[in-house]
Amino acid sequence: MSGIVHGLLGPLVIFALVGVPGLQAVSAQPPNFVLIFADDLGFGDLGCYGHPTTLSPNLDQMAVSGLRFTNFYSSSPICSPSRAALLTGRLPIRSGVFPGVFYPGSRGGLPLNETTVAEILRTLGYRTATIGKWHLGYGAKGKYLPTHQGFDYWFGVPYSHNQGPCMNLTCFPPATPCFGTCDVGIVPLPLMSGTHILEQPPDLTLLTPRYNEAAVDFMRKQSRAGQPFLLYYASHHTHYPQFASAAFTNASQRGPFGDALLEFDHSVGLILNTLRTLGIENNTLVFFTSDNGPELMRVDRGGEAGCLKCGKGTTYEGGVRVPAIAYWPGHIHPGVTNALASTLDLLPTMARLAGARPLPLMLDGTDLSPVLFGSDTSGRQTLLYYPSAPRPEHGVHAVRGGKYKAHFYTEGLWTAHTSA
Ligand SMILES: *[C@@H]1O[C@H](CO)[C@@H](O)[C@H](O)[C@H]1NC(C)=O
Ligand SMILES: *[C@@H]1O[C@H](CO)[C@@H](O)[C@H](O)[C@H]1NC(C)=O
Ligand SMILES: *[C@@H]1O[C@H](CO)[C@@H](O)[C@H](O)[C@H]1NC(C)=O
Ligand SMILES: *[C@@H]1O[C@H](CO)[C@@H](O)[C@H](O)[C@H]1NC(C)=O
Repeated sequence: MSGIVHGLLGPLVIFALVGVPGLQAVSAQPPNFVLIFADDLGFGDLGCYGHPTTLSPNLDQMAVSGLRFTNFYSSSPICSPSRAALLTGRLPIRSGVFPGVFYPGSRGGLPLNETTVAEILRTLGYRTATIGKWHLGYGAKGKYLPTHQGFDYWFGVPYSHNQGPCMNLTCFPPATPCFGTCDVGIVPLPLMSGTHILEQPPDLTLLTPRYNEAAVDFMRKQSRAGQPFLLYYASHHTHYPQFASAAFTNASQRGPFGDALLEFDHSVGLILNTLRTLGIENNTLVFFTSDNGPELMRVDRGGEAGCLKCGKGTTYEGGVRVPAIAYWPGHIHPGVTNALASTLDLLPTMARLAGARPLPLMLDGTDLSPVLFGSDTSGRQTLLYYPSAPRPEHGVHAVRGGKYKAHFYTEGLWTAHTSA
C-alpha cells in the first residue's frame, strides 16, 4: 500500500496538516506512537475518573504525568465501527463499517480501499504492529486481517472472545465454568499471527502475558534498529465475559471485571516501563482510550459510565464518551483538558506529528496537537452521534456543539442504570 500519501488524488477535501499555529516543534526524529485501546471500559471505571474501588495504578499515574481528557469520544457506541473510525479518521457511515459488528461468519471487513493510520505511517518509514483484538473483518483467506491493512505484524484474535464457545476458556483454572454465556454453534476463537492460525482456541487466561511479551519484543527490536514505530495494542479487557490470568484472579475489589481491568492496567505499566528502559519514552506519544462505553446490561460484570447516562450501544453520553489519556514526557504538559476530541482525530494528529504532507483524504478528524501541547480549544467544535445501526431515513441521532447537545433521536437502554 505505497502511494497513500502521495497518490489517491481525487475530488476530495484535503485536510491541511501544515501550519498549525502555536504548535510546539516536534523533534527532528519522528516520534513513535503507542495506541492502547481498552474494550468496553466506561467513563467512570478508572481511579483517575473517580471510581471509588477500582485499582488502576498505572493508568492513574499516566494521567498524573499526562493529559487527561474529560470530553473524549469514540465515534460509535459499539466495537467494529468504533475501531474502523480510530484507524481511518473517518465516520463509520463513510467507511461503510455498519450496522453492528463483525461476526465469525461475516464476509465483509474494513474496506481495503480505506486508508489506515498504519498505512500512512508505513509510507513514512514506520514499522507497524497490532497486538490483540482486531474486529474489523476476516474475509476470504483472511483478506481483511491487519496485515492487509497496513500492519507489518499482528498477533491476536480476529474478533471478540465471546463470539465462539468460550465457556471453559475464560476462567482460571480453565475447567471452571464462567458466569454468563458465549456464542455457541460457531467456530472456536482462533489465535493468529499474521494470517496464520496458531491455536484454536487458545487458553484465554494466558493471552495477556503473551501479548505483553510480543509488545515488549516489538518495541525493543524497533528501538534497537533506530526505527520509528506504531504499536496498536488492543486488549480484550474489559469485555464480557471477564477473566484474568492467574496472577490477577481475585486480586481486585471489583470481582472478575476489576481483575480484568487490573491486568489491563498492568500491561499499560509494562509498556510505559519498557519505553523508559529503552530510553525512548520522550520520543513516544502514548495514547490510551476505550472503544465505547460500558456494557451495563452485565450489571457488575460490565463497567461504569460514572455520572453519564446509559452505556454501550446508546447515543447518550455513557455510550460514547470514554476515558482518554495522552502521555509524552517532555512534550505534553501534565493536566486535564475539557477540549472536545474524538478517536477520529488521532489519525490526523499522528500523521501531522510524523511529518506527513497534506493527506488527499476525506477525513472527519482534526489535528489534536494544539490541545496536546497546551491550548485548551481544539479545532473540533462539533461532534456527531450515530447509533450502532445508522439509517439514512434517521440520519444523525445527536449533535454536540460546544457545551450543548441536541438529540434528534434519543437512544438509550442496553440496559440503562440511569432511567431515560
Ligand atoms: C471504496 O470502494 C467503494 C466501492 O467501490 C466505494 O464506494 C468507496 O467510495 C471507496 N472508498 C474510498 C475511500 O475510495
Ligand atoms: C472445552 O470444552 C470443549 C467441549 O466440551 C472440549 O472439547 C475442550 O477440550 C475444553 N477445553 C478446555 C481447555 O477445557
Ligand atoms: C478466586 O476466588 C474464588 C471465590 O472465592 C475461588 O473459588 C477461586 O478458587 C479463586 N481463584 C484463584 C485463582 O485464587
Ligand atoms: C524526559 O523528559 C523528562 C521531562 O522533561 C525529563 O525529566 C527526563 O530527563 C527526560 N528523559 C530523557 C531520557 O531524556
